[in-house]
Parts: sequence; structure tokens; C-alpha cells
Amino acid sequence: MDPREQGKQRSAERALGYIEEGSVVGVGTGSTVKYFIEGLGAWRDRIEGAVSSSEQSTALLKAQRIPVLDLNAVGSLPLYVDGADECDPHRRLIKGGGAALTREKIIAAVAQRFVCVIDGAKQVDVLGKFPLPVEVIPMARSHVARRIAALGGQPVWRDGVVTDNGNWILDVHNLSILDPVRLEQELNQIVGVVTCGLFAARAADVVIVDGDVRG
Ligand code: 5RP
Repeated sequence: MDPREQGKQRSAERALGYIEEGSVVGVGTGSTVKYFIEGLGAWRDRIEGAVSSSEQSTALLKAQRIPVLDLNAVGSLPLYVDGADECDPHRRLIKGGGAALTREKIIAAVAQRFVCVIDGAKQVDVLGKFPLPVEVIPMARSHVARRIAALGGQPVWRDGVVTDNGNWILDVHNLSILDPVRLEQELNQIVGVVTCGLFAARAADVVIVDGDVRG
């Protein structure tokens, strides 16, 4: 197996150790989370179920015969496990490479503990080399793109991609994100933005890199 895939798999398997018996588990989206869902199959009789961040993960959870629950019907969510596209030393993230950022951010906001699972290549000192995904209401695409350009970013429409919420994605290039909390706020305030892929105000609590826990 490719070393990066091995790193993802090790991180996902380590995250299984954070599951609490009888609880609901929040599940992210992507190729790293796919390994987590595979491992979660062995837990199906010891958890109440999972809350899913995407149609893709819902299908994988159902294939493992894990009940998929509505977040609105869930009392507490001790754990959320998800991948990321970039992670800085303060556990702040860029997410949304898989276009599932909005549901991911909602689950992260509800969860008591957010465990982020990555391979080592995703660690950066400063966020922004990975183009920052922003989910937009379709009719606002040009307006949002102009506002982002005024902030110094280069937005590129991810043509052909429709999110699970029926929206579109702008990938913002050429950002050197020195104040991620502020930029997250600024982007989220643009009319027509559903959410941006900066997870800074609510960063991860634990990051597992190539299977090693980083705090
Ligand atoms: C999806 C995400 C993913 O967590 C992120 O893109 C990482 O994916 P992968 O584990 O496949 O590298 O944010 O919206």
C-alpha cells in the first residue's frame, strides 16, 4: 500500500479507541474516514449508531449495517471523527476537499470531542496551500467570487460539483492564512456563503498523524 494510504489507515484505526460504548459517533467524509467506517463495522453492536456528514459516508455506514441517525434526534455526541486537507500546529484545519464541509462543520460544532485523522503530508505551518473550499448558494456564486477576490484570494468554481445541500463550491487559491479565525469569520459573513472550509473557531481537539496522537 502507498505510504500515505498507510498513514491514513493507521490514524483511522487509532481513532476507534476514542469511541464510547453505547454512544452515537459522528462520522466525517473522505478516504481516511472510509478506513474508520470499515473499523466501525466491528463496533456495530456496541454503539447506538452514527451521525453522517455526507451521502457518501451514509452509504458506507449502511454497508457496515450501522444505524444512521438524524442529528436532530441525538441528545449528545461525545465523538466526531473526520479527516482534513491541511492541519496547522494549533489543530486548525482546511476541510472540504470532498465538498462535505457544511455538514462536517455542523457535526464538529455539536460534538464534545473532534478527533481529526490525517497522514503526515497534510501538516503545514501556515494554512492555505490547499485551495480553501467555500460552499455558496448557486445564485450568489459571482457575487461571492468578487468579494473573495477583493480579499486577495483567487476563487475557482468547482464546475460540475453539487454539494449534498444542492449548492456549489468555490476553491480559493493563493491564500496565506495568517489569522484563520478572522478569515473564517470574514468569509462566513459574505452574503451567499453557506460556510467556508476553515475549521479554526472550532478546531480539532485531537489530531492523529500517521497513527500517532498529537494532542
Ligand atoms: C471532505 C473533507 C475531507 O475530510 C478531506 O477532504 C480529507 O479527505 P481525505 O481523507 O480523502 O484526504 O473535508 O469534505
